[in-house]
Amino acid sequence: NTKKHIIIAIDGPSGTGKSTTAKIVAKDLGITYLDTGAMYRAITFAALEKGVAPTNKAGIDQLLQSTKIRFDNNNQIVINGINREKEIRGKQVSEAVSPYSAIPEVRSVLTQWQREIAGERSCILDGRDIGTVVFPNADFKFFLVTDLKVRAERRYQECLQKGIAMTLEEIEKNLAERDRIDSSRATAPLKKADDAIEIDTTQLSIEQQVKKIEDRVGVVA
Ligand code: DC
Repeated sequence: NTKKHIIIAIDGPSGTGKSTTAKIVAKDLGITYLDTGAMYRAITFAALEKGVAPTNKAGIDQLLQSTKIRFDNNNQIVINGINREKEIRGKQVSEAVSPYSAIPEVRSVLTQWQREIAGERSCILDGRDIGTVVFPNADFKFFLVTDLKVRAERRYQECLQKGIAMTLEEIEKNLAERDRIDSSRATAPLKKADDAIEIDTTQLSIEQQVKKIEDRVGVVA
């Protein structure tokens, strides 16, 4: 499998373990992991920094043209030359990201970028609309779901480790609110692709969810 160009899509709500799982699978397969949520978070960070509201269409267009986003060698986000990995995971960006993600112009620019990157090399991408919109012909599509309480607890532990200050209650509220906005937006809503394999990770360890995916994909060492 590592010899040909492959695209693996992992979609699902916030905190279902998409990124943790995708990172490990990418490493095992020797392909690139692309965190599309980080891209939406980056645009949101830039908008908050410049004070551009999601309703300010001209401001958003200008922002999309002037903001330089890239991933460094450690897959951390760099915005206009500055590493913002910690900022994009924090409370402010987490609470603002869904309205910015609903803007069609933002989606169009980021979707194009995602297609460019994954067009050049095999990738596993995690997000909300990878299997439905970005790569409807992906070789493998997975849709992860998990009970809200478990998602909140896992994200809370992650934040503790990364030194990000958010309470368990704030996180649970944020996850639920983002799911609501992400699922109900008009453009590329969070939705399981008809041909995606659904995995409920509520009772699964990281190892178990990685194995479920790798068993399908067929890891060639
Ligand atoms: O995966 P995440 O929690 O880092 O994503 C942050 C937000 O970005 C999410 O609430 C909605 C948006 N997003 C999106 O709209 N489409 C994607 N493919 C990935 C993320």
